[in-house]
Amino acid sequence: MSPHRFRTMGEQAGRRSWAEPWKIKMVEPITMTTREEREKAIREAGYNTFLLRSEDVYIDLLTDSGTSAMSDRQWAGMMLGDEAYAGSVNFYHLEQAVQQYYGYQYLVPTHQGRGAEHLISQALIKKGQYVPGNMYFTTTRLHQEMAGGIFVDVIIDEAHDPADMHHFKGNVDLNKLEDLIKEKGAENIAYVSLAGTVNMAGGQPVSMANVKALRQLCDKYGILLMLDATRMVENAYFIKTSEEGYADKPVAEILKEFCSYTDGAWMSGKKDHLVNIGGWLAVNDEELFDELRNMVVVYEGLHTYGGMAGRDMEAMAIGIRESVQDDHIRARVGQVLYLGQLLTDWEIPIVRPVGGHAIFLDARAFYPHIPQERFPAQMLAAQLYLDSGIRSMERGIVSAGRDPKTGEHRHPRLELTRLTIPRRVYTEAHMDVVAESVKEVYNLREQTRGLKMVYEPKRLRFFQARFEPL
Ligand code: F0G
Repeated sequence: MSPHRFRTMGEQAGRRSWAEPWKIKMVEPITMTTREEREKAIREAGYNTFLLRSEDVYIDLLTDSGTSAMSDRQWAGMMLGDEAYAGSVNFYHLEQAVQQYYGYQYLVPTHQGRGAEHLISQALIKKGQYVPGNMYFTTTRLHQEMAGGIFVDVIIDEAHDPADMHHFKGNVDLNKLEDLIKEKGAENIAYVSLAGTVNMAGGQPVSMANVKALRQLCDKYGILLMLDATRMVENAYFIKTSEEGYADKPVAEILKEFCSYTDGAWMSGKKDHLVNIGGWLAVNDEELFDELRNMVVVYEGLHTYGGMAGRDMEAMAIGIRESVQDDHIRARVGQVLYLGQLLTDWEIPIVRPVGGHAIFLDARAFYPHIPQERFPAQMLAAQLYLDSGIRSMERGIVSAGRDPKTGEHRHPRLELTRLTIPRRVYTEAHMDVVAESVKEVYNLREQTRGLKMVYEPKRLRFFQARFEPL
């Protein structure tokens, strides 16, 4: 069963559509620009969509991070902010929501996901230890490396193939992981870093069977299993639709079961939790909690706010409850699948199966004539902006950065451009406009050339690098 809408007349016979479980109460006008204005804007931005001003953007698919529309309940919650320095009532609401829906015992609030990544990496990684994970994420890996860790990708091979139709391309390859443990010794593994869903692989989920097996393997060697829960609600939805035995279970129940196999989690609340800022770290071990709670006051803020205002914590507590409703998550992922289906019908190369938060265009397949060192995915993002003012982002060689040892570019097999869908923000008509613009850029692919990098920052270079067309 495919959760996206019926679209052709033939399919409409006996159709039963779903629609968004909300109506619009407030709107934010967006600007339309001319081709000339966009040419100037992208040139001034060094062909990097991160450096565009948002007022020059028409449909903003840069990220789903902090870009959600909050509900009227969440806005009402903002008015109930208890801005006490210590012991804010909103912290206790947040703690209760995390305990109820994620099941972890101890909560440490942080200003966003990378604040939590910093703390967990510093607390758990000793210099020279290995951190196996299901594909890297930019900020996650950097914090692991800055703590002295060595990240090792142990995702299944299928994840590196944009056309492979495996339903759970986020799964860890248990053989790769066990080989690593045997080769390096369990004492040299800091923890297993598991992300659900896997952002860089295309928003691909991890199956319940895989996390259960991981739990067993980690227990066998006495290794911690830590979860990046940033898009774990979306992951739970894919388990419901694609894994046997879960179709009739509520997403909230699936989420909690999945988390129960892990020892703790970090979270960028800016995604699943439907808020514009916020994050947390949660664990079950009291001693580890003690250490993290001690560190948070140094780097983020007191342990009952961690860099957030009271009102932010309240909005997040409410957002957590809204995010696990089956109606919400079906519409959220369903909108992504709708766009994916349009592009698939038009035979435009995208990562498949379509993931939970974004469509990833396969820039290698778009531009087979542009070598990876000429940044095809970066160019594709610039072309989309030029065509229609739609903002996307590179997820290829620029994002992968350089190897800290050799200083050479890392060459990821996936060279992708991400069209990330914010939650509850755009309509189906926006998705149609996006699909048509992608098609236009695809039609012009043969005459498109690559880029050269003219400015390269030392860390997380994709955010601020500058380019010129060849
Ligand atoms: N983990 C994952 C899987 C993420 O996607 C992100 C952020 C983080 C951690 C870090 O969280 O931004 O709150 O500090 N991803 C954003 C994106 C930036 O656009 O994919 P943060």
